[in-house]
Amino acid sequence: MDIRNLINNIAFNNYEPSIDELERIISVNGDDMHYLFSVADKVREEYCSDEVQIRAIIEFSNYCRCQCKYCGLNCHNTEVKRYRMSPEEIVSTAKEAVDAGYKTLVLQSGEDMFYTKDMVCNIVKDIKAIDDIAITLSIGERSCDEFKAFKEAGADRFLIKHETADEDLYNSLHPHSTFKRRIQCLKDLKSLGFQTGSGFMIGLPHQTNRIIAKDIMLLKEIGVHMAGIGPFISHPKTDLKDCNNGDAMMTLKAVATTRILLKDPMLPVTTSLGVLEEKNKSLAFGSGANVIMQKVQPIQYRKMYEIYPKDTKDEPSVLAKRLELEDFIKSCGRKISKSRGDFGLLK
Ligand code: 5AD
Repeated sequence: MDIRNLINNIAFNNYEPSIDELERIISVNGDDMHYLFSVADKVREEYCSDEVQIRAIIEFSNYCRCQCKYCGLNCHNTEVKRYRMSPEEIVSTAKEAVDAGYKTLVLQSGEDMFYTKDMVCNIVKDIKAIDDIAITLSIGERSCDEFKAFKEAGADRFLIKHETADEDLYNSLHPHSTFKRRIQCLKDLKSLGFQTGSGFMIGLPHQTNRIIAKDIMLLKEIGVHMAGIGPFISHPKTDLKDCNNGDAMMTLKAVATTRILLKDPMLPVTTSLGVLEEKNKSLAFGSGANVIMQKVQPIQYRKMYEIYPKDTKDEPSVLAKRLELEDFIKSCGRKISKSRGDFGLLK
């Protein structure tokens, strides 16, 4: 099949591509690549409207028990200054974000067992008492029993990326856990009724276009409600310090292909894509993305949450940052969502 027909058939006729066909799409360049982006943009408009969902993210602890070979917060990195926000501090930051207009809060941290099941539940309940806001947890692997308690406490969504769909590559990058365990977490979360998010990185060493095709197929098989797709960025304090960064165009192709195949998931413009180059963010909005996240924790913590190297300027207040982001979204020709932006309720 001609590549443009293939793209159209997937996007508009629900054609189910083979892994070979997905790999062909991921490999397009030049005009065909821009064609892919424009089709993804149409699908995004049809299923998600023109509204961009803005999420506030509170990175509340950078302690982590994991050994992810790509991540600057891995437990072997003794040079990173570690911090934990107290539950009170987390809830008051949440309040500030709500006052600035946010309707969704993402609570993210390293895998930090300091925050027990009960502590996480109480934080969720205290934030829920502020207003009708959606809460996403992004705190790593926990037992199914803990996931269930978080759901009962009021958490709406959970984000845990599969990182790569290649089992051997996954296991080599995560010596503390396994691919099977990660997929089990995603299945548990879905069956508990969470709006469930996964995602993966572009440009990991030994990744091929076929693996990226498998990543996208896996998102479809799991039936994710959101998927964060971002380039790998080399961090000097990790085993992968000498590896090249992932490619921005490949990242955009993966976002666009995910949009045409899955249709309605939440697809964020990832921060790492903006780290490569600021203008990638507006390109991502034109290639299928409909979500953006903004850090809202106090400035001293923003600097310390260094998964990968990035500039953290002395940024203005939570409200001023929100207004700046709204202007940027409007400059991309898009509108600002005023709702919680729940999966399935965008149109
Ligand atoms: N480059 C890009 N993304 C990274 N992540 C972690 N380390 C890196 C890196 N070096 C992403 C992973 C992880 C999330 C916390 O951040 O996808 O799930």
